[in-house]
Order: sequence, then structure tokens, then C-alpha cells
Amino acid sequence: MKKKKRLTKTEEEIFHVRQKTHLADARYALHQLYGERSDFEDWVNSCLAKAKAAYKSRPDDLKRLDLERTHQPDWFLQENMVGYICYTDRFSGDLKTLPQHIPYLQELGVTYLHLMPLLQPRPEPNDGGYAVLDYRQVDSRIGTMEELATTAAKLRENGISLCTDLVCNHTADDHTWAERAKHGDPAYQDYYLTFPDRDLPDQYEQNLREIFPETAPGNFLFDKQMERWVWSTFNDYQWDLNYANPAVFVEMLDIILNLANQGVEIIRMDAVAFMWKQMGTDCENLPEAHAILQAFKAFSKMAAPGLIFKAEAIVAPEDVVPYFGTGRMAGKECEIAYHNTLMVYLWSMLAEQKVVLSTHSLQQLPILPESAGWVTYARCHDDIGWAIMDEYATAVGLSGYGHRTFLSEFYSGEFIGTWAKGDTFQFNPETGDKRICGSAASLAGLERAYESGHQNEIESAIKRMLLIHNVMFAAGGIPLIYMGDELGMLNDYSYKNDPAKADDNRWMQRPLMNWKLAKERHKLSTPSGAIFQGIKQLSITRKKTAALHSQAKSEAIWTHNDHIFGLLRSSARGRLLVLANFSPVMQSVPAGRLAELGLDIDLRDQLTGRDFHGSVDVPLSPYEAVWLMKK
Ligand code: GLC
Repeated sequence: MKKKKRLTKTEEEIFHVRQKTHLADARYALHQLYGERSDFEDWVNSCLAKAKAAYKSRPDDLKRLDLERTHQPDWFLQENMVGYICYTDRFSGDLKTLPQHIPYLQELGVTYLHLMPLLQPRPEPNDGGYAVLDYRQVDSRIGTMEELATTAAKLRENGISLCTDLVCNHTADDHTWAERAKHGDPAYQDYYLTFPDRDLPDQYEQNLREIFPETAPGNFLFDKQMERWVWSTFNDYQWDLNYANPAVFVEMLDIILNLANQGVEIIRMDAVAFMWKQMGTDCENLPEAHAILQAFKAFSKMAAPGLIFKAEAIVAPEDVVPYFGTGRMAGKECEIAYHNTLMVYLWSMLAEQKVVLSTHSLQQLPILPESAGWVTYARCHDDIGWAIMDEYATAVGLSGYGHRTFLSEFYSGEFIGTWAKGDTFQFNPETGDKRICGSAASLAGLERAYESGHQNEIESAIKRMLLIHNVMFAAGGIPLIYMGDELGMLNDYSYKNDPAKADDNRWMQRPLMNWKLAKERHKLSTPSGAIFQGIKQLSITRKKTAALHSQAKSEAIWTHNDHIFGLLRSSARGRLLVLANFSPVMQSVPAGRLAELGLDIDLRDQLTGRDFHGSVDVPLSPYEAVWLMKK
């Protein structure tokens, strides 16, 4: 990439305007973190210098993109957005070969491609790349920084925006910073949170969660070389960064801007909830963690305003929405975030065949700022944690603990009569928490159905796959297809033979892309073909339906039928009623309910073109879902 030595006068002016616009926010956020320091102004200036340098070296095509994005700030909220997520090595082998698969992605209507962590990780085990050794190099197994930039440009030429991860909460234990810390360099020891004895760690531990209770219990480890305890929320080889040290903030800001200058358009901010620690709290979602993101945002607006952030905050629903920014920083933090709540309830509704708890819980979700959107998903590379609030369960006459236990047993395959085939992840005997792993298709019953050989079970599993994707495509936000789900790929058990992966069963849902199976995608008579074509249809219809723009209100509604989930999307772009039957038998929504919604009119299902009239009950076959709009 060519580096520009000097900015033109116009470019200088552009930067000046952006600086003027965003500096107050940047200072406000940084002040919450470092305002007490006597060298505060110096740190503000170091950040500004990084932003200016990044702007100087930003390639012209990306500057043009910035301009486009500035004129179309809702680009990622539009109904044409469809996402796909994969590991580069598991999907295409490497970055160079990835563009060969652009036509495949385009068949699904993909406009957003998330390539899972692709910076140089420590040697395995490395938590699937979430333990980064070098943020300036691409994982040598998949390519180079130059190839990343070339791939990003090719994707962009084809209407696909590239998203990638930034593991900003921790580094690998053999990152240069950690190595220097181990060798006793106090400046680098201050990049991490280290302690001479267990005094403080023990006090902190009283309020902390354990993320990997089976394989990495506790949140601290003893480093023999340094002879100090080190904060490590995740695996022992992932050391949490100390953002109370402004040098860490500046390093990460520079890394973010460098990724943006390679053509990365969306950065998935990993594990953001944990970025700030404070004694006596659970050290999750603290105001300072938000301030860090807001400061990153404000400086990146100066250098690369086209860039957006996706928050990976898999926390309680009311704790997620603040990642879009609150108060004077509303809309000034992350633009998108994972809709974990919807994902959990999709699986809950399927297992329970009832929608009461889900409807109630989704109705409690805080409203998003207009400028923000969800990323909706059915499955991802991680486990499913049953984030079901006790108080919501109680409100609909269920026990939260009981329901979570039911879901764990249902999806691990212990529950009698279950169709699902999954596995328990990181059982925590203290809380009784049992998370679940497994591919979407295996959890939706396809694996067992194949084993039984019963055609009707295979068909039901296909319908369940399409049903959860249906709601995910309509609920609001970018629907994110998890690699392999579009073909109904099953659990992959090969990880058990790989010592570096064997103790992490999340690898069950991280298979190698089955390109042979992908050849069946046009054959509707095969399960893979039926799922692929079904998802493709959702994508085509979504893109034609302005009512699905993310800014349209998305409201879970009662349908007067406990098995049919209702979702109303309403805005000046139109009203669309999603009705989704989560039961394996025929159900209907009473006409009276449609009348209450003002929909006792001629209606058309946008997916099939089938006509309905709202003055008659709407019948839905097993696992069927419709997108009804005024004809
Ligand atoms: C995120 C990732 C997960 C990883 C963790 C630690 O939650 O999705 O896979 O284990 O961060 O980096």
C-alpha cells in the first residue's frame, strides 16, 4: 500500500473538520479513563497523532468509501444486508483462494462477510485464533497483510463488506508485550494486570464469573517466570490487557486504524464486556469499558469514518443495548451488536414448542438508537448459554432454572424424546449452568433424523432449520449465516482426535466447509438443497422488502396462539407481520387478532406470494412462517 507523504489542502481541511467534530467526544470518553492523570493532554495528543497518521496513509479508495458511508450512514441497516461468517482456513483454505468463492456467497445474497480471527495467533491451542501473538501480521497459514487488503478490495468490488475480529480484551501469553513483561520490564508489566500474591486476586474473585470453569477455572494464573499472578479471564494463555494504562489504549487504537486501512469495514470487538476491572464489581460492562469503545469510535471517525464496530457482548439483554452508547454518547459507541437474546429464544421456542416466554422476554428489550442495529443469528462458533432471566420466566409461570435445565437436557440429547444432538459445554456445578455446543442442523434434529432414516423426521429437521432462519432474517438487523448452516452441515466430531482441540467441544460446530455437499445446493430433493434454497429465498425476499429495514420498529406480539410467534415490523416503509409456527402440528392465528392489529385486510405472504385475508383465521402448517403485508 502506497503511503502518502503529504495531505492535500482539501484533505487537511477534511481532517480538521472531523477532528473538530469528534474531539469533544473523544476527550469526554478518555477523560473518564485517564482524566485524573497529569499527563492527560499528552495522551489525547498521542491518540490524535495516531488518527492523523492513519488518515494520511489511508488509501484513496477507502477515503472514497468513507465519503459514501458518510452520505449513507444507514448502509448496514438496510434490508439488502445479509451476512455470512466463517473461518478463512476452514472455508477456503487461505485468503488468496477466498475470492473464488464469492459467487457462492453471492448466491446467498451476502453483502457482509465476517472472517473469524485472522491475525497471527500463538501456536495451538489458541482458542480458535482468539489468542493473538501479533496484531500486525495475518495468520501465516492463511496469508499476509497485503493479501488481506487485496481480498477486502475484491470483496468490496463485489458488494461485500469485510468484517474481522479484534481481540481487544487480551493478548496471547507469548505476545511481545507479554514476553517483555515476563522478562521483568515494568513498562510492559503495566500492559497487563499482575499481582505479587493472591491478596487482590482473591478479593476480586469473590465477584467474578468463570468463563471456562472446566478447562480454565478461576481468573488468575501464576506466571513462574515473572513470579506474579496474571489476570486471565479466558484460557490461561490469554492475558487480559490493562486499559487503565493509556499506553494500551493507544496501541489498540493504532491496531484498529491499521485494520481499517487494509479495507476492513466492520471490526468485531471481542469480549468487550471485560475490558475494565474494578474491585467489588463483577468487572463486566463497567462504564469505563463503554468509554474505551467510545474513545476508539471518536478517533476512528476522524481517520476512517466508514468503519463500524460490532460489539461482542454476550451478556444480559439490558446490558447489551448500552454498547450502542447511552446518554450524550448515544449512537456513538458500537453500531451493531449480537442479538444473543433472540438466538437463545429461537432455540427455546423450538424445544418448548411454545412462544410465551420468548414473546414476553423480547418485549422487555430496550429500544435501540435509530443509528444502531442487531446482528441476528441462529448459530455461531461459540456455545449457547441459556441467558434466560429468572424474572421473565417467573412472569409467565415458569422457573428460570427449570427452563434452562430443560433446554440443556433437550439440546445435549439427554431429554427423552428430543430430536437434538449436541453436547454440554463447560458445566459449572456451582451455578448448575450447562451451556450447549452443536451445529444448527444437529441441534435442529437432522443428525438424529439421518440416523433413524425416517423421511418425515428429516423433513421436520429441515423445516426447523428454515423456521429459525426465517425469524432471524425478519427480526431486524443483519442476519448472519454461520458457515455450513446453509447446507445443514452436521456436528463435526473430528476435533476429538486433535490434542490441541480435544478439550474444547465448540469445535463440534467448526467444521471444514463441505464443498462436495455444496454441489447439492441446487437439488431441492436433498436436505442440503432444500435448506440452501430456503435460505436463499429468505435472502431474496428480504432484499425486496423495504419494511425490513433495521430502523423499522421490531415488536414481539401476542398472537393469541401459544405456539405461533408474532413479530410486527412497522415504519413508514410499511408494516410486516411475521407469524411463525413453532409447533409440529397445524396452528392458526384467530382473525380477531389480525383485526386488533388493523390487519383485517387483503394480505400477501411476501415469501410465497400466497394470499390471505385478515378477516379469516390464518392457518399455518407445522413449522411454517409467513411474512404478511398489505396486498
Ligand atoms: C469471544 C469469542 C470466543 C472466545 C472469547 C475469548 O467470546 O467468541 O470464541 O473464546 O471471546 O477471546
